[in-house]
Amino acid sequence: APYRVAVVVGSLRSNGFSLRLGQALAKLAPDTLKLDIVTLQDLSFYNQDLEASAPADWITFRDKIKASDAVLFVTPEYNRSIPGVLKNAIDVGSRPYGKSAFDKKPAGVVSNSPGAIGAFGANHHLRQCLTFLNMPVLQQPEAYIGGIGDAFDDAGDLVKPPLREFLQTYIDAFAAWVAQQHK
Ligand code: FNR
Repeated sequence: APYRVAVVVGSLRSNGFSLRLGQALAKLAPDTLKLDIVTLQDLSFYNQDLEASAPADWITFRDKIKASDAVLFVTPEYNRSIPGVLKNAIDVGSRPYGKSAFDKKPAGVVSNSPGAIGAFGANHHLRQCLTFLNMPVLQQPEAYIGGIGDAFDDAGDLVKPPLREFLQTYIDAFAAWVAQQHK
């Protein structure tokens, strides 16, 4: 059976670049992986007061992560960090203490921006969280996708061959590494 990968999209925008990038990666993935897009529109704010009877949307999100063999974060950068919705998802999934859904799951980080820096700041702020979450992270290739603004046509298809080639390299490397992590 293929390894199940939860693709956590760090933007709520209905047709955002991060979502399209996640969908493009799902199409390019080799058949050793099954990528499922996890969006965060329905996830409410973490509040420790509610943990005793956790909201259904938290449970749903935690269960999606627990059911996966790996997690691939695809995120834009907000103010040189990750969007609040992604941080909230990390916080929700990490609790209750000692029962983190993320614990030991192999992870990948793909950051993107219309700008030139490729959301490097978001990418590495996210990696700081992943250290505490005890998630081994694919280190190479790094994925800082700049110039995402003209990467897709209106149908959502990738129209930048060099980017397509890089994403293929990335997802193939991720697949090989995930398999290695599960040996
Ligand atoms: C941005 N954007 C942005 N871009 C960047 O490269 N570095 C940054 O620090 C920021 N900061 C930032 C803050 C806020 C609040 C917004 C709304 C946007 C621009 C951002 O890259 C752009 O809006 C992307 O298109 C967002 O990603 P999605 O929604 O298309 O996936």
